Amino acid sequence: MNYIKALQHPIFKVISQSAEELKIDSYVIGGFVRDFLLGKETVKDIDIVAIGSGIALAKQVAKNLSTKPKVQVFKTYGTAMLRYDDIEIEFVGARKESYNENSRNPVVENGTLQDDQNRRDFTINAMALNLSESKFGDLLDPFNGTDDLENKIIRTPLDPDITYSDDPLRMMRAIRFATQLGFTIEKESLNAITRNCERIKIITNERIVVELNKILESDKPSIGFLLLEKTGLLKYILPELIALKGIDEIEGQRHKDNFYHTLEVVDNICEHTDNLWLRWAALLHDIGKAPTKRFHKKIGWTFHAHEFEGSKMVYRLFKRLKMPLNDKMKFVQKMVFMSSRPIALVNEEVTDSAVRRLVFDAGDYVEDLMTLCEADITTKNPKKFKKYHNNFKIVRQKIVEVEERDHVRNFQPPITGEEIMKTFNLKPSREIGTIKEAIKEAILEGDIPNEYEAAYELMLSEGKKLGLTKVG
Ligand code: CTP
Repeated sequence: MNYIKALQHPIFKVISQSAEELKIDSYVIGGFVRDFLLGKETVKDIDIVAIGSGIALAKQVAKNLSTKPKVQVFKTYGTAMLRYDDIEIEFVGARKESYNENSRNPVVENGTLQDDQNRRDFTINAMALNLSESKFGDLLDPFNGTDDLENKIIRTPLDPDITYSDDPLRMMRAIRFATQLGFTIEKESLNAITRNCERIKIITNERIVVELNKILESDKPSIGFLLLEKTGLLKYILPELIALKGIDEIEGQRHKDNFYHTLEVVDNICEHTDNLWLRWAALLHDIGKAPTKRFHKKIGWTFHAHEFEGSKMVYRLFKRLKMPLNDKMKFVQKMVFMSSRPIALVNEEVTDSAVRRLVFDAGDYVEDLMTLCEADITTKNPKKFKKYHNNFKIVRQKIVEVEERDHVRNFQPPITGEEIMKTFNLKPSREIGTIKEAIKEAILEGDIPNEYEAAYELMLSEGKKLGLTKVG
């Protein structure tokens, strides 16, 4: 088959010509070919295999391009990279690889295109298009990757035990591709992942997180998390989720399986947000339930303060996985910490003061929190489902009203500490905090409006209670 159509981008002609100049063959391989055959038009990154030196080819291409891009050389790996039109182009010499038991860094020798295709992870990632002038666009597909694309199957070119054991990250990649593309992992492959799952331990956390993020960015992440669980990988990566599995029953009282519930919540939230960190919050919102689970004879199962415990666990989990301990982590913590607040509202009448407090505490994240809580409704009882969603609609409506009227989102008290000090001729002291808190509480409760005049009056009366007198 010829796919000259895939090679419309002018860069391919330049690569082809550069390879001719060096008298070597070159091919485009991997994700680019796969994505073209899947009908994806946009060119992301391009991987080029040279039958010879990839570094020399990269340099020759750079020389022939009018933009004269910088070539980044990775000598230890024998690879080189350059950027053109926002596309990252990687060059590698065709190679044979053999791996050591305890490392994913291979021993590399020069090889043929076929050797190079053998060492690839999946049949759908091992297809190559010829870039030599006479065979421009010819497909080289020794493992029938096109059939596997058609039949939506993830399969390894070699014995899967070898492919996965050589580079255990591929176990995560298999599951990630299955999730992203909605493909099935072929049975032998799935068994091999299960047999080799412990080898994920030699992979760095950073690389694991890249795959986890891609799973979470998919339309239906539950596919990936169920596979991670089924193959045994999840216990090495996110044991906090495994701890949520199972239903306990004592004296006829049961609680729900919080693992499967969590996955439902994640799938739900993906229909309403692309925010990766809100998706992480959905994944972790209940992790505090495992360590806080108790059974009480009178009230049944409780998970007291699981939100607080969960938010502390978020920090430890991010740290362990070497994820950034920045605003994103704090956002996830805040979402987990506040995850039950709106739910507490839906069981009662939704009062203005409860909504004001919610907006005050959640600040700019109040809409994200509402999205999380709506996704958290997984009840199979249609009456309850409708009731909860309706109540959340009321909460959202009230948020808008309260916002317009009271401006408590990024609450700035109408009376400053300085003014309190001046009014009562005070030095910095506890009384100032007491008066400020009383004003804040009165506004949130709705006892006074969020306005200067009313707050001033309250300051005077609170001061009086504390035995203070106005000066001047
Ligand atoms: N590859 C591999 N084993 C890995 C990683 C990559 O065999 N552990 C090969 C595959 O042939 C893959 C190519 O290297 O297609 C490029 O890898 P990468 O850029 O990571 O992935 P893509 O397949 O391009 O897909 P995506 O961009 O979605 O990650």
